[in-house]
Amino acid sequence: ILQMEATVGKNIVWHKSSVEKFDREELLKQKGCVIWVTGLSGSGKSTLACALSRGLHSRGKLTYILDGDNVRHGLNSDLSFKAEDRAENIRRIGEVAKLFADAGIICIASLISPYRKDRDACRALMPEGDFIEVFLDVPLELCEARDPKGLYKLARSGKIKGFTGISAPYEPPVNCEIVLQQKVGDCVSPCVMAETVISYLEEKGYLQ
Ligand code: PPS
Repeated sequence: ILQMEATVGKNIVWHKSSVEKFDREELLKQKGCVIWVTGLSGSGKSTLACALSRGLHSRGKLTYILDGDNVRHGLNSDLSFKAEDRAENIRRIGEVAKLFADAGIICIASLISPYRKDRDACRALMPEGDFIEVFLDVPLELCEARDPKGLYKLARSGKIKGFTGISAPYEPPVNCEIVLQQKVGDCVSPCVMAETVISYLEEKGYLQ
């Protein structure tokens, strides 16, 4: 199989289109990029993704959300939560996000993506600056207290094995573009957090 893959690889040639990323971006009046939202289950990734998409949409910007949970309903429905399958989940979402960004779209990928090396591999797929990593820095105790899907309870009782933060690791980013921190007792609205990201995009020229 490896030999076949190598042969196929050698016979593949990149086909250049006459309409390029830049042309699409000119049409859309924005720059395509990937906003990669990482954090524990219950840290508010999907809520932030929705608020961000809404905020950008109302400014006339084209966005698309790739949510870990949602993509696992289709494209990634064959993958479990063991480390290799999470890596493949993240790799596929990284590749799809790259296509969206190439289409000129602001692609918001929200998934736990617990391993640093998997996130860094997605970053490496993208042109410099076009991968914007947003860390929802929320303590485990707060995520567990929220437990919106009752999954922490199941994980604590042993009914879910390998649950991130309980029985599987989460490696926080070391050098990400944006950290959105919440502490126990804080009440930060998703719209306010979304505005922080939108300001970053404005400052870096992604919204033109
Ligand atoms: S990963 O780690 O990036 O591949 O995970 P992701 O694709 O984002 O999927 C996370 C959602 O799957 C549910 N779920 C689990 N999460 C973590 N660990 C285990 N074992 C697990 N089993 C199911 C859970 O609803 C996650 O959604 P969020 O939105 O993060 O709570």
